[in-house]
Amino acid sequence: MNTQEFYTNMKTEQDKIRENIQKIKNRIVVFSGKGGVGKTMMTINLAYELSKKHKVGILDSDVTAPNIPKMLKIKDELRVKDEKIIPVEHKGVRIVSSGFMAKENDAIIWMGPLRSKLINQFLSDVNWQDTEYLLADLPPGTGDEVLTITQSMKPNIAIIITTPQEVSLGDARRAIAMAKKMNIPHIYLIENMSYLKCPNCGAKIDLFGEGNTRKLSEETGVELIGEIPLDIKVRKGTDEGKIGVLEFEESEFSQKIKKATEKILEVSQ
Ligand SMILES: Nc1ncnc2c1ncn2[C@@H]1O[C@H](COP(=O)(O)OP(=O)(O)OP(=O)(O)O)[C@@H](O)[C@H]1O
Ligand SMILES: [Mg+2]
Repeated sequence: MNTQEFYTNMKTEQDKIRENIQKIKNRIVVFSGKGGVGKTMMTINLAYELSKKHKVGILDSDVTAPNIPKMLKIKDELRVKDEKIIPVEHKGVRIVSSGFMAKENDAIIWMGPLRSKLINQFLSDVNWQDTEYLLADLPPGTGDEVLTITQSMKPNIAIIITTPQEVSLGDARRAIAMAKKMNIPHIYLIENMSYLKCPNCGAKIDLFGEGNTRKLSEETGVELIGEIPLDIKVRKGTDEGKIGVLEFEESEFSQKIKKATEKILEVSQ
């Protein structure tokens, strides 16, 4: 392949992505500067809450550590029909993840630039049918991979997950700067693990500090749409593949997720 052919190929790939992905009106990227703050947990619960009234898809774009199938306890495989990848459907939500691909290829497929190639394929070759909301669980950080996926997806909504801890907030600040630089029209913050409710006496325990994310929100002008508690019942459920907003609808955890989705619905297309 000569240089000219290389650039032409690249252009067609981007055209294909645009054509396929822009059929989905609401493209939401979920990122966090820091790992382990509950990005996957928030993506799943926001997606299933939205799916109560809308057609929703989840793109697990963490190719090297695909946690969505693990958290939902789904063992399934992607199928191909009419040259399109068919997402796995789980309780009404369409899901695409590298975790649904044949395991024996793991070591080869996930090396270097092939990772971005796979994500591009997920964006261009998946039959998302009439999906109205696509939520992408991005790898942690603000590195090249996150940047490339976001550029390809052209999201209209970005949700940045943080915890109240200083180290997480610093990373969230970087994520906000990145989202602003990319001109994503609607950027929101969600603070996860805001507090713990004592299961015995109901007292509110601020495990990681209080008010820090609100300060970051005021400083950056990015609206804070949820302060989600650490919920032991929900956590135990998650370990068995149960989804908080479906199985524990009355919990404070689920009610706050619902409030956050109302904000998303307000700016939806
Ligand atoms: N609000 C919460 N209440 C109870 N448990 C939670 C909550 N948020 C996250 N968890 C638990 O914390 C763990 C880490 O969350 P999760 O895997 O969603 O983080 P992550 O940001 O996606 O991590 P990574 O950067 O590795 O992808 C999970 O086991 C999840 O069950
Ligand atoms: Mg994750």
